[in-house]
Amino acid sequence: MTGVSSGLIVQPHTVEETPVLRVTDVRKAFGDQLALDGASLDVYEGEVVAILGPSGSGKSTLVRCIDQLETIDGGAMFLDGELLGYEEFRGHLRPRTDAGVQHQRRRMSMVFQQFNLFPHWTVLRNITEAPVKVHGLSPAEARARALELLEQVGLSDKADAYPRHLSGGQQQRVAIARSVAVQPRILLFDEPTSALDPELVGEVLQAMKALAAVGHTMVVVTHEMAFAREVADRCVFMAEGRVIEDRPADDFFADPSSERLRAFLARSASARKDTE
Ligand SMILES: Nc1ncnc2c1ncn2[C@@H]1O[C@H](COP(=O)(O)OP(=O)(O)OP(=O)(O)O)[C@@H](O)[C@H]1O
Ligand SMILES: [Mg+2]
Repeated sequence: MTGVSSGLIVQPHTVEETPVLRVTDVRKAFGDQLALDGASLDVYEGEVVAILGPSGSGKSTLVRCIDQLETIDGGAMFLDGELLGYEEFRGHLRPRTDAGVQHQRRRMSMVFQQFNLFPHWTVLRNITEAPVKVHGLSPAEARARALELLEQVGLSDKADAYPRHLSGGQQQRVAIARSVAVQPRILLFDEPTSALDPELVGEVLQAMKALAAVGHTMVVVTHEMAFAREVADRCVFMAEGRVIEDRPADDFFADPSSERLRAFLARSASARKDTE
């Protein structure tokens, strides 16, 4: 397949395959600050896409727009081909109602830096609440799914514990299990390990790797280069509100086509050396 422009490579998917997520030329401003300036991204079923880029390049804004925590000022986003945030009405597009937006948001899950578990609920209840109350699963089904997910994230023995009895890394793994429990079409992560002590980062990345291995579609904003390189199918580099590289992970690191990405990778490598 041909590259669209330097650094942006169209993936070898069949033409008829609809991406799970399509972001086309999205713009978002906060006052006169342009956070997204025509960002585009396609994510296909089962792909893990890492988003890298300097601070302020729009990574969080992009995933927050996808999750409809922010409205967009231009462009369009589609989940399984369905336009997000807007609907057709008498030949025009109009914003969806709050209920319509919530309905769409239920088909994706976001994992934040701060895990925000309910402190007075057990781990199990934190995971089963939404599947039962929002998604209509029976308590028995939700429990079975939660236990399976706890096993996947390495916390089988913590089902009855309360969040305060868990380390930050364990709490984040519970939060990840909670996000997966609603069976989203896509999982969005915004720097899920950056609030953790360094020694707890590995266990959370391991849990994410386990989810990737069973085929979840994931978009991960991260500074963890080794994770991106090892687990992501594609890496995306953002600068000034735009996606300026979108490549298979191996090429991204081995053969960055823009000077900006080369400089970014060199800076990250030297920062890593300083902390070793
Ligand atoms: N709620 C907001 N109000 C005003 N400006 C904002 C808001 N959110 C983001 N911005 C601005 O938009 C730009 C992109 O911010 P964003 O948080 O998306 O960057 P980022 O790539 O996630 O950075 P970091 O790596 O530091 O998390 C920045 O200039 C930021 O200051
Ligand atoms: Mg951010």
